[in-house]
Amino acid sequence: MTEPVSIHGQWSSRLAFILAAVGSAVGLGNIWKFPYIAGENGGGAFVLVYLVCIALIGIPIMQAEVLLGRTSRRSPVNTFRQLAAEAGASRLWVSVGFAGIVAALIIISFYSVIAGWSLAYLVRTAAGVFRNVTAEGAGTLFGALITDPERTLAWHTIFMVMTCVVVARGVRSGLEQAVRLMVPALLALLLVMVAYAYDTGKFAEGWVFLFSVDFDKLTAGGVLIALGHAFFTLSLGMGAMMVYGSYLPAGVSIPRTVLSIAVIDTLVALLAGMAIFPIVFANGLSPASGPGLLFQTLPVAFGQMPAGVLFGSVFFVLLVLAAWTSAISLLEPAVAWLVENRGIERVRATVFTGLLGWLLGIFTVMSFSHWSFGFNFAGKAKENGFFDVLDILSSSVMLPLGGLAVAFFVGRVMKRERLAEGLGGEGLGFRTWYGIVRFVTPFLVVVVFLNAIGVL
Ligand code: TRP
Repeated sequence: MTEPVSIHGQWSSRLAFILAAVGSAVGLGNIWKFPYIAGENGGGAFVLVYLVCIALIGIPIMQAEVLLGRTSRRSPVNTFRQLAAEAGASRLWVSVGFAGIVAALIIISFYSVIAGWSLAYLVRTAAGVFRNVTAEGAGTLFGALITDPERTLAWHTIFMVMTCVVVARGVRSGLEQAVRLMVPALLALLLVMVAYAYDTGKFAEGWVFLFSVDFDKLTAGGVLIALGHAFFTLSLGMGAMMVYGSYLPAGVSIPRTVLSIAVIDTLVALLAGMAIFPIVFANGLSPASGPGLLFQTLPVAFGQMPAGVLFGSVFFVLLVLAAWTSAISLLEPAVAWLVENRGIERVRATVFTGLLGWLLGIFTVMSFSHWSFGFNFAGKAKENGFFDVLDILSSSVMLPLGGLAVAFFVGRVMKRERLAEGLGGEGLGFRTWYGIVRFVTPFLVVVVFLNAIGVL
């Protein structure tokens, strides 16, 4: 019997899969989003809850998603279709796959806009715009960019085209190579930034903010944001890891692989926080400045450090690369489904999906200027209308619900033997994972939800 392979192809090795999955996981979520949501939610206690969510929810769900994908070797929609039929379960399970596609479209729509800001910042940094800039000056420059819909729309368009080009070519050519260089370089450069942050003299203050736990500062809504971010940062809850898993060669150990991906992802986020918060405190900025935090702090650092133009440019190149390798995983599940079920050729499927994401992105483009409106969520005032709505809807609602469905599916619907088959037998590791995914993960997700909406 020959080994089953996805019609879309397969990763060349275990390493290639790790690189692709790390590429998907490490992105704007780690470097841009994690610091600002940690800042908005009071720091330490939020970070602790986030780490617990990674360990008890994120890692088990990632293992489940990769396993489901590899077991079926089809797009997420068809994975649910096939495995539900096999287990004699309802056909409605396919709706989890479709919900994932909707979540992915929502995420790519704002993701591409923020990645567009990063492109703009790459050009600005390389052009020396930030030489000796003050914190106030950096804030003004940032405000001028995001309130200019024509410019941000142009950058959003460029980024979406970049993403579509890679997805259209298929993931194997080009991508594996890019990620191979990117992840080590990104880690190295983050260390340089942490070293600079250390030099600001406010490192201790940044450290205390990130790691000293004070639960009085954390609201129930903040806990839900931490949970949602665990899904977002590990690319879970919408099928990205499933589709990547469907290209994973047989015989690769899923648990070990998943663990290394999660560890790298977490490391990058924590390093980003350690680089940014000392700069925040050294310049009298507020940790709760929202989505602009990264763009208002790092330019100040690059403006002062020796060879700042060089370091800054390299940093933004890496940020764009990190966003790019994540964005492709947001399009891939929808594209794979269109190819499998609609007989649409890959290039067309990519253009269609990218176009939908691009159109939806216009709401985020406009959120920071003409269409802005405010509301309250989780006890925090939100000012950026549609962007905040799309972000909350996807990260705090759809991804955790998608993850809950995955936990239910592997824990209650599929046969235990079928799972053990894909995970190399019923050893201690399997039994631990199975217990967590059956009892702990769903319980925690439900409790966090009920708590956030005030039922508990
Ligand atoms: N994990 C990426 C980041 O942190 C974003 C991302 C890529 C994502 N694919 C995803 C988030 C799928 C949720 C689901 O930047």
